[in-house]
Amino acid sequence: MAAVDSAVNLGILISGHGSNLQAIIDAIMRRDLAAQIKIVISNRADAFGLERARRHGIEAAVIEHRRFPSREDFDRELVDVLKSHEVDLVILAGFMRLLSPVMIQAFPNRIMNIHPALLPAFPGLHVQKAAIDRGARFSGCTVFFVAEGLDDGPIIIQAVVPVHPNDTEQELSERILAQEHRIYPRAIQLYQQGRLEVRDGRVYINGELDLSLDQATFNPPLR
Ligand code: GAR
Repeated sequence: MAAVDSAVNLGILISGHGSNLQAIIDAIMRRDLAAQIKIVISNRADAFGLERARRHGIEAAVIEHRRFPSREDFDRELVDVLKSHEVDLVILAGFMRLLSPVMIQAFPNRIMNIHPALLPAFPGLHVQKAAIDRGARFSGCTVFFVAEGLDDGPIIIQAVVPVHPNDTEQELSERILAQEHRIYPRAIQLYQQGRLEVRDGRVYINGELDLSLDQATFNPPLR
């Protein structure tokens, strides 16, 4: 992975609400994250995230996937726009389009995505409901480098949340989203610090980490 120590240039792709985009903007404004958002791109004109970007004086563009005859043509346009804005790292933040090899090969190990489950469990859509329906005791969220395949690629950071017995989809989604907002800026910070290394499909994090995670968690309790 490129060792970048100066601020990293981000291109953020969204499709909707953009609360993860907001969390990244907030982390930059707090100076927890040395990054500049060069452009926000939505494939939908009605995405509220566009408004969030504009409020912060960030360039925001709409590139509607429907205007393109194929996934590859759409991705070629994305690559052109991202490269012309000198984007180093592409951040998918609720971007609900599968990327083709055109994008993935243009930014190898330089596209991050976030997913509201503990990958590789529950890829795809409606995953909070799927976790509840299966009676999962724990779920969470995952930031990963995008590889070809749905919600697939080397895992950078995860957060675990409990699934309560009477959770609604909405309640679990909110509990997970609160942690998404914490882990996404952290994943980007680790990249910016040049600490992420991808080898053999895995991410290794260089440097000291304060890990006190030797405790297992059970639900139901063992006694
Ligand atoms: C988030 O929960 C994100 O994990 C999910 O879409 C939501 C976007 O929220 N992404 C996926 O499911 C991708 N597979 P946001 O627009 O408020 O950031």
